[in-house]
This record gives sequence, structure tokens and C-alpha cells, in this order.
Amino acid sequence: MAVDQQRGRIGVIISGSLTEGLSARVDAAHPIESLRVGQFLLVEGRQHEFFAMLTDVELGATSPAVLVDPPADDAFLQDVFAGTATYATIALRPSLMLPRDHSDEMRPVKTIPAHFAPVYTADEKDFTRVFGREDDTHFEIGRPLDMDVPVCIDLARFVERSNGVFGKSGTGKSFLTRLLLSGTMRSGIATNLIFDMHSEYGSDATSEGGGFVKGLRKIFGPSVRIYTLDPESTRRRGGQYDHDIRIGLNEIDVEDILLISDELNLTATAAESAYRLVDHYKNDWLRTLLDMTPEALDAFALNTGTHAGSLGALKRKLEALRRRGYVEDTAKASVINTLIDALMARQHVVLEFGKFDHSIDYMLVANIITRKIHQRWRERTEAYLTSKNPADKPPQLVITIEEAHKFLNPQAAKQTIFGTIAREMRKYSVTLLVVDQRPSSIDSDVMSQLGSRITALLNDEKDIDAVFTGVSGSSALRTVLATLDSRQQCLILGHAVPMPVVVRTRPYDEAFYAAMAVHVPAVAGNRPPDALPVAPTIDDLFGD
Ligand SMILES: Nc1ncnc2c1ncn2[C@@H]1O[C@H](COP(=O)(O)OP(=O)(O)OP(=O)(O)O)[C@@H](O)[C@H]1O
Ligand SMILES: [Mg+2]
Repeated sequence: MAVDQQRGRIGVIISGSLTEGLSARVDAAHPIESLRVGQFLLVEGRQHEFFAMLTDVELGATSPAVLVDPPADDAFLQDVFAGTATYATIALRPSLMLPRDHSDEMRPVKTIPAHFAPVYTADEKDFTRVFGREDDTHFEIGRPLDMDVPVCIDLARFVERSNGVFGKSGTGKSFLTRLLLSGTMRSGIATNLIFDMHSEYGSDATSEGGGFVKGLRKIFGPSVRIYTLDPESTRRRGGQYDHDIRIGLNEIDVEDILLISDELNLTATAAESAYRLVDHYKNDWLRTLLDMTPEALDAFALNTGTHAGSLGALKRKLEALRRRGYVEDTAKASVINTLIDALMARQHVVLEFGKFDHSIDYMLVANIITRKIHQRWRERTEAYLTSKNPADKPPQLVITIEEAHKFLNPQAAKQTIFGTIAREMRKYSVTLLVVDQRPSSIDSDVMSQLGSRITALLNDEKDIDAVFTGVSGSSALRTVLATLDSRQQCLILGHAVPMPVVVRTRPYDEAFYAAMAVHVPAVAGNRPPDALPVAPTIDDLFGD
């Protein structure tokens, strides 16, 4: 008997294992071409219902003879064979199970259904049961491939860890990121800092289909502050900004310089010379170096035992920094502190780079700011742990970085602040949203720390492997990923959804802006995640 007459039966389970997934024989009457990879299915076991994803479709024949002499032009024979001599099977990957009497919650799968358990296409109710409804902490990210029902992600769980948005160029990463940011902004569940390298999040941006889409400032108003490195460009594009960023030479640390040592062509000895200068001149090390006359340089080298040649080379190469339009000898009032104060006050900040979209600028500025944030959030968390006063707890902060591999490649991840945040800042209420088209370039330790991965189409094998770092039983999901449409479709897996799911990404359009304007009950402050209702998870897949 069918669980529900509404659901269409597809076939019955014929083999499988918990680790490898299940295989079902498709009913002869069921049209094979209606079966799609990524589809959401339900298997009705004796005691449990299993929720699964279709990961492959295959043709089979009981006898090779039929295939040796195929009845290619004989429709009658084809019909006779269908379901007897020829048949189709599907591979499916169960993720969640629920007792049929609903005596318990949905849980990650720990067993499999017996032979001949019937398989159904999931219906709208099933989606709602698994992915919930939109509310103050659940955000509709898209809809299933073949149905019109929202698929929601749990924002509270999402912001609690670092996450990734991946996909090759033009697949919709920036649009997806804009959706996710809108969701967190509307719910008030986290404060956002966005390093907007290509100036496409704060102000209006172009869409490949022609026309413009609204920036976050237009949707959310002045709670989104725009800081810019290049006020002229922001103005030219008709955008508003609140502050222009000026960085004093005294705000640049050796660590910031080392991150861009390739771009600046620094040698291995540069760090040593720079640290010598810091020993003597503290924060003023860079300005002092850049102001040194050749005589002063020689004298310093002699007095400190530094190699004069490498000190001279360092000076020459760092001259380039002074010429960046946003660098000043000494920043009067630190704009960076103003920016961090705004974040602490739960305002969102978009930092536009304008014409300064070179790696040097992007990495230098993002690193300086993030280093200071790290320090401030750490201090505040430590104060909170001592006082136990909730008012001392810093707000949950999400830092969005595009082209994340620049900061998180295996070499940089070990040294930079971004690596530290990806690995441990969850404790201090700071997480990253990394956006990248080459996940294989990101350090594998960092990849395995990501709570959720939202991935549009990827073709490169290495990139596909990287997305599944630390996910057990991922081989079936690889096919799913490789068969996504080239735009506006994605596979979501991880902490923020109860099971992996493929969606058509929610359109970022007028209807979306209107939906964002509708009030949702604000989440009181940033509720600690453990105070939120615990949804079923696939932590078993990801570890904790
Ligand atoms: N959710 C969406 N709503 C509306 N349009 C979308 C959506 N997703 C993608 N698009 C369309 O696809 C185009 C490419 O998307 P997007 O700019 O986000 O790609 P990308 O992956 O960020 O590319 P790149 O790597 O080059 O930055 C957009 O200009 C838009 O026309
Ligand atoms: Mg983009």
C-alpha cells in the first residue's frame, strides 16, 4: 500500500548498503526520463520512512541477447520487453529516517530499508517536514528542481560556523551570496562585514541578463553602511557611501605585508628586516623606513646588524604602498576603528574597493581590518566569559570574502588571520563566508572546517573533490554536482540543512526585494545557538 495516494510510486529497493547507498528497480510503467539526478525521494520501510536523494539512473537487461539484437524499430516488442527483459534502476542516497508512527524525530540514517521497500517521489509535505517553513530564522534559498515548495536553510546554524559558496565563473555565486546576506540581515541573526572586491553587494550591480539588481543598501537602508576605498567610483556609479577608508602607514603590520609578499616580490629576508624595524620604531616602522635617507638606512643597518642590501630592497618595494590612493602617512582618526565600532553596534558594513580591485589592495586592506576585528572580538569574548553578562557578548559576525583562496590557500591559511578565523573563531562569534570559484586552491583543513557548502556547477575534478573534503559517502553526490545547470542551481550540504539538497536558486528580483521588506519578528540580539530549537542534522556526516 502506498504511504499516501498523492505520492507517485517509482519502484522498489533491490539492493544497497548504508555506506554505498541503495539501488531501486524502476516500475515498468514509470517514465524513466522523468527521473532526475538530485531529486528528493522517500522510501517506505517497515518501521521507518527514509528520505533520500536520487544520484544516478541506469539501464539494465536481463539477457544480453536482447541487447545483441535490439528491437530498435519494433515499438510493440519494446513494450513487451519493458519491465521484463529491459528495465531501469536508480541509485539513491538516504540521509534521514523517521519512525512511521512519528514516535521520534527525524534522525540521520543508521540503517536501511529491507528488500522491496517501495520508493516514492517526495511531495510538498515531505519537503516542508524536512526543510521547515520560512520564519525568522529559516530562509528560503530556493526551490526543488521539480516542485514549487520552499527549501529553507536554518540561519542560526548557518552563521554559527564558517561556510562556503562555490561554483565556476558565472554560475551565480555572487547572486547566491547576496541572497544569503539578505537572509541574515533580515533576520538580524548576524552582523555582516563584506569585502566587496568588485563593488557588487552594497550598491546596485549589473545582471548578465541586462539591467541592474538592487544592492543591499537599497534593500535594507542605512543599517547597511558603505565604506569605500575609492569614493569617486562609488559616486560615479550613483552609489552612496558613508565613509571613505584611509589607512595610515602606522596601521600596517609586518604580517599584512607578508601576506602580499608575492605581489610585492619580497624576498625571504624581508620579514627579518621588517621585524628589526618594528623592534626599534614600533607602529612607526613603515613610515620611518620609507622616510630613511640612504645614509640613515646604512646607519640603521650597521647599528642593528641588518643586511643593508635587503633593507634597501624592502624600502624600494614598499614604496608602492605609499602610492596607493587610500594610504596616508598617519591616519588622523582611525576609520577602521569607526568601522569596527559600527559592526559592534550591529550595523552591517560593505567595503567597496572601486578601482583598487588589485590583489594587493584587497588583501592588504582586508587583512588589516580583519586582524583588528579578531583582536576586538577576542577581547570582548574574554570579558564576557569573565563577567557572564550577556550584554558583554560581542554580536555574531560573518565576514564575507570573495576570491577566498587568496587568503586561505595552504600557505596563507597557516599565517593569516583568515586561517585562524576559519579554524577557531567560532568560539569568538566570528565566522567566514568564503566565496570562490576554485575551492581546490583553499587549504584542506579550512575546507573541512566549513559548516555548510553551497555549490553551483563545478567541472574541474580537483574542485569537486575539494568541495567534498570531509564528507563521507560523497561519491554519489559528485554526479549530482557535475550535472547541475550552468546557472542558478546549487547543491547545499552541511550543518544548515537537514540533508543534502539540490535547488533552483531563489531569483533575486523585484519579488525578492518585496519579500525582504516584510517584517519578520526580530531575533532577540544574537541568541546563543544552543538556545535555538535543534533541528535534525547530518552532523554524523560532517563530524562536529
Ligand atoms: N538567483 C539569481 N537570480 C537572478 N539572476 C541570477 C541568479 N543567479 C544567477 N543569476 C544570473 O547569472 C549571472 C551570473 O551570476 P553571478 O554574477 O552571481 O556569477 P558568479 O558565479 O558570481 O560569477 P563570477 O565568478 O564571474 O563572479 C547574473 O548576472 C544573473 O544574470
Ligand atoms: Mg561573482
